[in-house]
Amino acid sequence: MSATEPLPGTSDLWEPEVFDWIELENAAREIFHRYGYIEVRTPIIERTEVFTHNLGETTDVVQKEMYAFEDRGGRHLTLRPEGTAGVIRAIANRGLEQGDECRAFYFGPMFRGERPAAGRRRQFHQIGVEAVGNNSPWMDAECIAMLMHFLETVGAGGGRLLINTRGLPEDRPSINAALTEYFTPHISCMCEDCQRRLSTNVSRILDCKNPACQEIINGAPDIASLMGEESRKYFDNVCASLTNLGVAFEVTPRLVRGLDYYVHTVFEVTHAGLGGNDALAGGGRYQITPPGMKGVVEGIGYACGIERLLMVRASNVVKAAGSTDIDVAIVCLGDAAVPEGLKLAQSLRHQLPGLRIKADFSARSMKAQMRTANKVGAKKVLILGENELAQGVVVCKNMADSSQVTVPLTEVATALA
Ligand code: HAM
Repeated sequence: MSATEPLPGTSDLWEPEVFDWIELENAAREIFHRYGYIEVRTPIIERTEVFTHNLGETTDVVQKEMYAFEDRGGRHLTLRPEGTAGVIRAIANRGLEQGDECRAFYFGPMFRGERPAAGRRRQFHQIGVEAVGNNSPWMDAECIAMLMHFLETVGAGGGRLLINTRGLPEDRPSINAALTEYFTPHISCMCEDCQRRLSTNVSRILDCKNPACQEIINGAPDIASLMGEESRKYFDNVCASLTNLGVAFEVTPRLVRGLDYYVHTVFEVTHAGLGGNDALAGGGRYQITPPGMKGVVEGIGYACGIERLLMVRASNVVKAAGSTDIDVAIVCLGDAAVPEGLKLAQSLRHQLPGLRIKADFSARSMKAQMRTANKVGAKKVLILGENELAQGVVVCKNMADSSQVTVPLTEVATALA
C-alpha cells in the first residue's frame, strides 16, 4: 500500500461521485421533511460511555469494533460506530419534557474496526432517522413505511423487508433461559462466537451466519412464542398496520440484530444486489439511557448505509437495462381480473423497480396469454382468475421449471424479490 492511499476500509471521494451523494441526501431530506422529521448534526466523536452504556457491553460493536482512545486529558472517547446513541444524547441535551416528541434525521460517517470486504468498510456513511416520544406500534409501522418509501424513491427498491420482535426487557429472562437450555447440549459443535455468546448474550446466537450453526439454530424455540401478551399484541399491531399501509414484509423469527438497546420491533432490509453483506438498512424500537439521565428514552429508528445504497441503485439500473425480456407477466382471466391485474402491476412496479412487468388486458384464453408470456421471455407468470380474486391470492408460475405456488396478493412482491 502506498503512503498516499487512504487506509484500508476508507476511501477518498471526488466529483462526479460526490454529486450522487448530494442528490441522495437531498432526496432523503425532502422525504423525511414530508413526514415531519428535522435534521440534526451531532459530533463524530463522543464520550465512550455514550456507546458502551447503550449498545451493550457484550455486542461485537463494543467488544471488537470501536475506535476508542484516551485523549491527552485522560478522557475516554470514541469515534461514533453508529448514530442512534449520539442523536438520543443530543435530544436529551436539548431537553425533552414528558409527552414531547422529537423526530430527527441525520447523515454522516460512522467508524467500525471491521475486516474490510465488499460492502464492509471501516469508515462508512449512514442516512438515519430517530423518532422519540411516541411509543406506539403505529409509529413503528409509519417509520418502516417511510424507509420503504425513501428506498423506492431513490431507486434502491426491490429489497426484502424482514421484521421480528425482541419483546420487552421483562420477557428476556424466560427467553434467555429457554435458549440456554436448547443450545447448551449443542454448543461444542458451534462456532467460537456462539460459544462466547452462550454465557454473554445468548439470543445473539440466533443471528449467527455460520452454516454449521444455522442447522442447530433452525431448531431453536421461537422467541415470540415465549413473550408475554403485551409484546405479542404490540407486534401483531405493527404487522397489521404495515399490511394496511400496503408494505410487503416477512416475519423472520430469528432476526435479533446486533445491538442490545432494541425492544419490540426490529427490522432489516436486505437486497440481492449487495452479495454477502446484504443488509441495506436496519433498525428497530429501542430504550436508551443517555449518560447522566435517570429515565430511559424510548424511540424507533433505522439507518441505511450510503455506500450500500449506491451499490443497490447501480445494480437496479444494470438489471433494468441489461435485457429487453419481461421479468413478470400477469395473466388476467375474466373481466373482473383485468382491473385487479392493472393494480397489481402498478403496485409491483413501485415495490420492485428493477423488474420489467407487463399485464395482459386482452381478455384472451389462458393458453393465448401464456403463449404471449413465453414469447416476451417472462421468467415468472402471475395468474389472476375469478377463484384467485375471490380468495385474495395469485398463482405464481416459475417458467424455468413450471413449478407454481399460490401467494396472497399482499405478499406477491416478497415472493418475486
Ligand atoms: P446497523 O444495522 O449496525 O444499525 O447499521 C445500519 C446500516 O449501516 C447497515 O444496514 C448497513 O447498510 C450499514 N453498515 C453497517 N456497518 C457497515 C460497514 N462496516 N460498512 C458499510 N456499511 C455498514 C445501526 O447502526 C443502528 N444505529 C440503526 C438504528 C437506528 N436503530 C435504531 N435507530
